[in-house]
Amino acid sequence: MTDKATDWTIPQNWAAYTPAQHATWDTLFARQAKLLPGRVADEFITGLDILRLSKPGIPDFDELSERLMKATGWQVLAVPGLVPDDVFFDHLANRRFVAGNFIRRPDQLDYLQEPDVFHDVFGHVPLLANTVFADYMQAYGIGGQRANGLGAIRNLARLYWYTVEFGLVQTAQGLRVYGAGIASSYSETLFALDDPSPNRIAFDLRRIMRTCYRIDDFQQSYFVIDSFAALLDATLRTDFGPLYDALATQHDIAADAIVADDRVLSRGTQSHVQR
Ligand SMILES: [Fe+2]
Repeated sequence: MTDKATDWTIPQNWAAYTPAQHATWDTLFARQAKLLPGRVADEFITGLDILRLSKPGIPDFDELSERLMKATGWQVLAVPGLVPDDVFFDHLANRRFVAGNFIRRPDQLDYLQEPDVFHDVFGHVPLLANTVFADYMQAYGIGGQRANGLGAIRNLARLYWYTVEFGLVQTAQGLRVYGAGIASSYSETLFALDDPSPNRIAFDLRRIMRTCYRIDDFQQSYFVIDSFAALLDATLRTDFGPLYDALATQHDIAADAIVADDRVLSRGTQSHVQR
């Protein structure tokens, strides 16, 4: 007997959130909504409107899903925390995004190891309202199911990490963040764009799938796409089976390394608008 469905989803139980928990959401939302214009991709700003629901505080997933379904055919379902890879891929392949239903404590505003509802919903859902990125996320889920059968999840997971979680995009106005791990974090938004230390490397799918990453600190390398359309196109054009075979014979690249064919971008072309 289990209280979880076999797909690991649980009721969000929106009515059980306390006023303090809603206030934590509102504090985080206001802080990021102020910081991000001029730093995040325009598509993310457009998508943020989907989170402005009829009630303040933590979004009610039923209402959010109804709106998201109309926009791109996606829905948001609650889970208690991280779910097994095959469950996660199955949800994505069917346009279901699973989100933690808990929220961080007030003393954890700036750092949390496990993704909570703020990371999952504020960070991920705005771009799920974008038709191109929504297609990319589904393609990733379908690719994940295939990678699972080929023993290549370790390689594919790096693509998710360096795009969906920690991606940057080059725009006519300068470098912008779009990854959920950055966009949901005040300090990493500033670090990813402004700090001189991390590498900012032009997107290269094969290179990314060889690259290690760190989960306990800001990233040492960020990969920069030209557009969401280019990202989706690169993914759909790639035959991953032969690529995984080739990758199996190549060594990993350290998270902070630059290699021979990298096109390293300077951060000098970016420009921010108002604070
Ligand atoms: Fe995430």
